[in-house]
Amino acid sequence: MEDYILQMENITKAFPGVKALDDVTLRVKRGEIHALVGENGAGKSTLMKILSGVYPANEHTGELIVNGERKEFKTIRESEAAGIVIVHQELNIFGNLSIVENVFFGNESVRYGVINKYEQQIKTEELLKKVSLEDSLDTPVNDMGTGKQQLLEIARAINKNASILVFDEPSASLTEDATDNLLEVLRRLKENGMTCIYISHKLSEVFRTADSVTILRDGKTVVTKPISELDEEKMIAYMVGRDLTEKYPRVEHTATDTVLEVSNWSVPKPYSDRMLLDNINIYARKGEIVGIAGLMGAGRTELAMSIFGVLKNSAGVLKLNDKQIVINNPDQAISAGISYVSEDRKRYGLVLGQNIKQNISLPSLRRISAKGVIDANREIIQAEQGVKDFNIITPSIEQLTRNLSGGNQQKVILSKWLLTNPKVLILDEPTRGIDVGAKYEIYQIMNKLVDQGVCIIVISSELPEVLGICDRIYVISAGKITGEYDYREATQEKLLVSMALGSRPVGKA
Ligand SMILES: Nc1ncnc2c1ncn2[C@@H]1O[C@H](COP(=O)(O)OP(=O)(O)OP(=O)(O)O)[C@@H](O)[C@H]1O
Ligand SMILES: [Mg+2]
Repeated sequence: MEDYILQMENITKAFPGVKALDDVTLRVKRGEIHALVGENGAGKSTLMKILSGVYPANEHTGELIVNGERKEFKTIRESEAAGIVIVHQELNIFGNLSIVENVFFGNESVRYGVINKYEQQIKTEELLKKVSLEDSLDTPVNDMGTGKQQLLEIARAINKNASILVFDEPSASLTEDATDNLLEVLRRLKENGMTCIYISHKLSEVFRTADSVTILRDGKTVVTKPISELDEEKMIAYMVGRDLTEKYPRVEHTATDTVLEVSNWSVPKPYSDRMLLDNINIYARKGEIVGIAGLMGAGRTELAMSIFGVLKNSAGVLKLNDKQIVINNPDQAISAGISYVSEDRKRYGLVLGQNIKQNISLPSLRRISAKGVIDANREIIQAEQGVKDFNIITPSIEQLTRNLSGGNQQKVILSKWLLTNPKVLILDEPTRGIDVGAKYEIYQIMNKLVDQGVCIIVISSELPEVLGICDRIYVISAGKITGEYDYREATQEKLLVSMALGSRPVGKA
């Protein structure tokens, strides 16, 4: 018989209007990395929230068996006591506390009523070694990048004596290096007996890391297989229920007039004599998709945010349709015809406590209002259209966006910005957290918009995506433009070379 550390048998769970899980079975062997994959809304996060006690046992049917023992978790604390710790998509870190304080928060080693600082130091050093973190223990966590914060989360989990670690899209906001590092740490933990459940839309990661895979579709288990019996095509076919031969819908666009021109554009780095953006010169034309490739931290998002008026103190000239414009805030940008879809959907993208309809109409309120009163019908029609165009999986447009799956939240954001009728649409990591099938749909929508005359700028750290959909690609590195390529001449290698150029003089590729 197999040695299962975890069995979730016949799990069924419904939310109002949604059957999120329908008779799902997940069996995880001791000491393996088990990937959980499936389209947006397939039920992955819900299943993990049941496992970790976020959703208490009385709210679903089915059995949960840990180490051969039947469990019914009512709280997160109970699942943690059974050795299950979820490393969340959003980091659960106290930014102004130090590494040590974070590791021991709520779990202090107390002797005779006194927190034993020395013991905590030693223990933290040991933990940090296990997750390859080499920072000084007093470092305030705010000063560490996302990748390191995540390693710290893992250290905290180990400190809670976790035997099963759950990762829900851990790499969504990590650089490539940080992702490599994370996967390496997981492999090492596995060698020491840890079991991991790993959710990701990046299938290449799944193939690099997982021992076996369970695929969910529409709230049902499709199959569990050892990774050796699958390839990417087979996996996608299981996920979407059909073959998906092409990843990118490449069509020929005809670029015409220059719509946006950014000249000698610089933004100083606050409190330093360095530059976030250093003399950037780019343009984007009607009828083309312009890519901005670069590593995280290279200045891609800063560029978008400074054009959009979020990031202030920019110097340089911004021209829209050949006329110089000055943008001091996002309202002015939207009025001028520039929309920006942010990469951080929780912070800038959605009002989670409002429903889909309200979120979608937010930036276009002026357009659908007369004398300050919202035209309710138009608001509904508009939202219904968004749900249909983007295939947003939801029981209705009245659903709170908080209750949507991660990928479907992203689709709401995209549709709300499209309704502002932008001349220039800046998309920052538009397909982060989006499943393979839905990505294709989003690319097609982008192509349609470009045919209608919208000028699209795509910021992406996924080079295959940039190469697959853009007509022209700029590379940004350390705040400077270090390359410009037509898509026909661009290759992954060339982009990588430009991305590494960094502080060298800018030359046209
Ligand atoms: N709190 C909730 N209230 C209502 N519906 C919910 C809630 N949480 C999830 N759902 C719905 O349950 C279904 C499964 O969602 P879940 O978040 O588990 O998907 P997922 O596989 O994690 O998707 P993604 O890849 O987009 O993160 C979706 O249709 C979602 O809208
Ligand atoms: Mg999810």
